[in-house]
Amino acid sequence: MKVLILNGPNLNLLGTRKPEIYGKTTLADIEENLRKFAAENNLELDFLQSNHEGALVDAIQQAKGNYDYLVINAAAYTHTSVAIRDAVEAVEIPAIEVHLSNIHAREEFRHHSYLAPVCVGQICGFGQYSYLMALQYIVGKRNENA
Ligand code: DQA
Repeated sequence: MKVLILNGPNLNLLGTRKPEIYGKTTLADIEENLRKFAAENNLELDFLQSNHEGALVDAIQQAKGNYDYLVINAAAYTHTSVAIRDAVEAVEIPAIEVHLSNIHAREEFRHHSYLAPVCVGQICGFGQYSYLMALQYIVGKRNENA
């Protein structure tokens, strides 16, 4: 079972960016923790972070045929990008939307997600555990179908 974990703009700054909202964990720490979980649960993970919308669209397109699931934190593009939404819809790979913060408890412009309607579901507000919960879902579904 192969999973591509995509992170959008400014998530490379985790650790120093607004720690009161996003915590002090860096993206490298998150990746390390997810890799541990993946190793224990026989999942293959790849990670990509980009600050560029087109790079994220390219990565989603290239995922077709290569990954079983996408886990995507599109960051600010969640609230703006029809292109990323269309890419997720086009590749027909089940996608899980994740956010560190609870976007519904923040500014109004963060309440709307272009991605949510084309994802299996949205997990937000649990810090780095949002990503872990997405992987737990994937393992659960795999085991159900085994
Ligand atoms: C975020 C929430 C977005 O609104 C914001 O633009 C981000 C991070 C989160 O993980 O909480 O960059 O996706």
